[in-house]
Amino acid sequence: MSHQSRITCPQLAAKVTTADVAAGFVENGHSVGISGFTGAGHPKAVPAALAARIEAAHGRGEEFRIGLWSGASTAPEVDGLLASVHGVDKRLPYQSDPAMRAQINAGKVDYVDTHLSHSAQHMWFGFYGNLDVAVVEVAAILPNGLLVPGSSVGNNTTWLDRADKVILEVNSWQPRDLEGFHDIYYGTALPPHRFPLQLTHPMQRIGDPYLRVDPAKVVAVVETDGPDRNTPLSAPDEDSRAMADLLVDFLRHEVRAGRMPPHLLPLQSGVGNVANAVMAGLVDSEFEQLTAFTEVIQDGMLDLLDSGKLLSVSATSFGLSPVGVRRFLDNVGSYKGRILLRSEEISNHPELVRRLGVIAINGMIEADIYGNVNSTHVMGSSIMNGIGGSGDFARNAFLNFFVSPSTAKGGAISSIVPMVSHVDHTEHDVHVLVTEQGLADLRGLSPTDRADRIIATCAHPRFRDRLTDYVERAKAARPQARHTPHLLGEALSWHTRYLETGQM
Ligand code: COA
Repeated sequence: MSHQSRITCPQLAAKVTTADVAAGFVENGHSVGISGFTGAGHPKAVPAALAARIEAAHGRGEEFRIGLWSGASTAPEVDGLLASVHGVDKRLPYQSDPAMRAQINAGKVDYVDTHLSHSAQHMWFGFYGNLDVAVVEVAAILPNGLLVPGSSVGNNTTWLDRADKVILEVNSWQPRDLEGFHDIYYGTALPPHRFPLQLTHPMQRIGDPYLRVDPAKVVAVVETDGPDRNTPLSAPDEDSRAMADLLVDFLRHEVRAGRMPPHLLPLQSGVGNVANAVMAGLVDSEFEQLTAFTEVIQDGMLDLLDSGKLLSVSATSFGLSPVGVRRFLDNVGSYKGRILLRSEEISNHPELVRRLGVIAINGMIEADIYGNVNSTHVMGSSIMNGIGGSGDFARNAFLNFFVSPSTAKGGAISSIVPMVSHVDHTEHDVHVLVTEQGLADLRGLSPTDRADRIIATCAHPRFRDRLTDYVERAKAARPQARHTPHLLGEALSWHTRYLETGQM
């Protein structure tokens, strides 16, 4: 398929230009909203041209930094390049790039780590100020100017609506067959004029297959032909398989107890190898006629779809490995009508997550003995990625799971600690913790009962005695403060011990 046939709107075809010319519309101090989610659907050419422009400006001793707003994580040619030329002064709502992470942790980039369902509406509420330029990748432009979205939707509707100027990248690598895979909702109003979202099944359509843009705002259209990030996934290791088995077995237990229907409830699975292993565990299970209302479609979801056990999946983005992309492209017809991509404000919408009764499965960095979860910070201060959609789903889920190996850094660090060094999900929101050691069902338990259960089932045996000793001494130290016993001075020295021994 040639580039030309992807741009069939004469008014927009007349704006085709180079990435260098397009990048010239971005100026120092601009806020730039880009497409992209989990390395899918990010612009492939303009960010590199912009990075070169920024580097040249810095070479002349001129100030040139932008605010960079996305759907979620992008790729080295976006976050990595722009960070490496020191071209970003503010980043939101999520990233997972090593170069960007280093700049954030060095205090050189202000990072606003945001619930993904909030980012679009906060823009509409005016919380982030003006959006100067949107750079959005699409698969095609139709004769009437409507845009066929690519492998992610993310915040594209909001960036296209709100930006003063729009740059479109039309990427012929994106499957032209993606037309019809999207449901773009345009009914969001501002409070107090909002109505309930009329969606009661994960696959219900409430919008259009196309993105809209005011052609008068489009300042440039750039043709590209480049792949998404497509990070390879490693085969599930022993720990991931153990966690997947525990989790699937627990779902069986919930069905037997009559708390969940036999076909379960819509699944949400976070990114990463453990989440992928859980999907693999479900392929081998007896569960059938499953549905998913999630954020990202990883290879494990394709496995489940191919096995026939998963009927359909609603998400905002693909996050496939190179092998997964090939499978999708080879069988695109079989996925049509079974995969729907939505804006992230809808895929992660609290109202919908609660109404549908989603089962949420997300990774964590550490949990404490009382059930608070840290998903984002190492040693309380250094950001890893961001909260992403984990809060959107976990807080509103029918049932949520947080999963992690019981130790990190080759076994030196316990992922179960007396007090998390940073809180993303509070004890009030966390239902079930899973490590390769075991599963702790925390529902209905008091803090001290939670501590007993988490230490006995989730902590690595090498750390159990030390954690139990902590609780016992905390109880003894303050008999009138036994609801959530803590030795505040000592709680966080658990972490600093590793700093002192040089293991972190
Ligand atoms: N202490 C210190 N470092 C720790 C740690 C701990 N307790 N637990 C994990 N880490 C480090 C690992 O060593 C690894 O570091 P490295 O990259 O330098 O090797 C890194 O954190 C990632 O850990 P890993 O074991 O590879 O787990 P993962 O890929 O499953 O990621 C999260 C775990 C928490 C980082 C990831 O799930 C995340 O970003 N979550 C937040 C967003 C989210 O949940 N999104 C999904 C919503 S749809």
